[in-house]
Amino acid sequence: MDIAVIGAGYVGLVAAVCLAKSGHMVTCIEKDKNKIEMMDRGHTPFFEESLDELLKTALMTERLDFKQALSEVKWPEIIIVAVGTPTLPGGRVDLSQVNMALAEIAGFSKPVTVVMKSTVTPGTGRRLKEKYLRNNNQQYVSNPEFLREGRAVYDWFNPDRIIIGGDRKAAGQLMEIYSDIDAPVILTDITSAEMIKYSSNAFLATKISFINEIANLCEYVGADIDDVTNGLGMDRRIGKDFLKAGLGYGGSCFPKDTRALDYLSSVNGYNFSLLRAVIDVNNKQKLRVIQKLRWVLGDISGRNVAVLGLAFKPGTDDIRESPALEIINLLAEEGVQVAVYDPVALPKACSHLLNHVICSDSAEQAISGSHAVILTTEWEQFIKLDWQKLKELMKEPYLIIDGRNCLPAEKLRQFGYRYIGIGRLAE
Ligand code: UDX
Repeated sequence: MDIAVIGAGYVGLVAAVCLAKSGHMVTCIEKDKNKIEMMDRGHTPFFEESLDELLKTALMTERLDFKQALSEVKWPEIIIVAVGTPTLPGGRVDLSQVNMALAEIAGFSKPVTVVMKSTVTPGTGRRLKEKYLRNNNQQYVSNPEFLREGRAVYDWFNPDRIIIGGDRKAAGQLMEIYSDIDAPVILTDITSAEMIKYSSNAFLATKISFINEIANLCEYVGADIDDVTNGLGMDRRIGKDFLKAGLGYGGSCFPKDTRALDYLSSVNGYNFSLLRAVIDVNNKQKLRVIQKLRWVLGDISGRNVAVLGLAFKPGTDDIRESPALEIINLLAEEGVQVAVYDPVALPKACSHLLNHVICSDSAEQAISGSHAVILTTEWEQFIKLDWQKLKELMKEPYLIIDGRNCLPAEKLRQFGYRYIGIGRLAE
C-alpha cells in the first residue's frame, strides 16, 4: 500500500521504517529540513536499537522517502499521524500539531484513511473527525502505539495486541498494513481505543509507584524488596513486569500520559485520586536518594558525588523527565560538586545541567575523587564496571546509592563500600 506518515519522531520514524520493511511504499513527512537531510543519509536523529540499519535498507530498496509537506507526496491510501502531543501546564495535551495535520489532510479532500497514532486523550478523535473529516471519503481510525523506547522496532513487529478504534471499513483497510504481524486485533470505537492507550500507561505507572512504596516500607520494617518482588510477581494475576523498585518512572510517556489523564478527569469533574497518588509518589521517589545521601554524609555541601546515568532508562539517549536530571540539579544547588556520565545521553543532557556540573568522559573519571556514587540508570556498562578497582579512586565513606537496585549489594560491601539500595536490606 501507499502510506504517508506525518512526523519522524520516536513513533513516526519507527512506523515508517517498519512499514517499508513490510513491503509498503512509505513517505515520511517531516518539517525539519535538517532532520530530513540526516535521514536521507541513513542516519536516525535518535538512538534506537536496529533502526539505523532498517532505515538504510528502506532507502536502498526505495520503499521510503522523506518530504517536508503532504503536497509533495503522491496521494496515499493511508495517512498515519504521528506528530508530538506534548504536555501543557496543568497536564493538558497540546493538540496544535495534530490539528495542523488534520487541517492539511482535510484541505486536499481526497479519499484517504487517517490513522491516529499520536497519543490523544479520550474523546479527542471523535472531535477531530467531526471538525475536519466531514466528507465521508475521508475516514478516521484511532490506532494507538505501545512502543517502548529502546525496544520500539521489536515492539512494532511483536505487539501484544493491535487496537483499532473506528468503523469496520476503515479498520479493514488498516489491517492490510499489519498483514505480516501475528497479534490479536481489538476493534472498538474511537474513544475506547484512546482510553485503552491511556489506561495501559496509567496502570503500568501505578505498578511502578506501588512497588516503590512497598520498597520504601521495606526499609522501615527490614524486608528485602528483591525477595518481595520475586514472590509478588509469581502470582500470574500480578505478573513480574513493571515491579522494579527504583527512582520512579521518567520518559516522554508515563509522566505525560498520567498528567493528561488526571487533567481529563478533573475537567470532567471526576477526582481520580489513585492516579493522583501515583503521580505524587513518583514525584517524591527520586528525592529519596538525596535523603539517603544526607543520612550517610551529613552535610552534603562541598562533597564530591558522581552520578552514573542520565537517560531516563537504558537503551536510549532520551533524557526527557529523567529522574537523574532533577537529582543532579538539586545536588548542585546544595553545593555538592557533581560529576556525571552516561554512555549515550551525555551530549543531550549536559545542556540541561547547571553549569558547574562536570560532564565526565567516562564512569571512572566521574567516580575519581568522589565520596559517593549515585547510580540513576541501569546501563549494563555500569553493572560490569570493575567496582573492586574503582574503590581506590574514591574517598571515604565509599558510598554507593544504587537508585535502580542493579548492583550486587553483598559483593560491593565485601569490597568495602557502604552500599544502599531502594528497599534492599541495609548492611
Ligand atoms: C512506555 C510504555 O512501556 C510503552 O508501552 C508506551 O508506548 C510508551 O511508554 P517507555 O516510556 O519507552 O514505554 O519506557 P518503559 O520501558 O515503559 O519505562 C518507563 C519508565 O518506567 C522508565 O523510566 C523506567 O525506568 C521505569 N520503570 C519501568 C521502573 O521504574 N520500573 C519498572 O519495573 C519498569
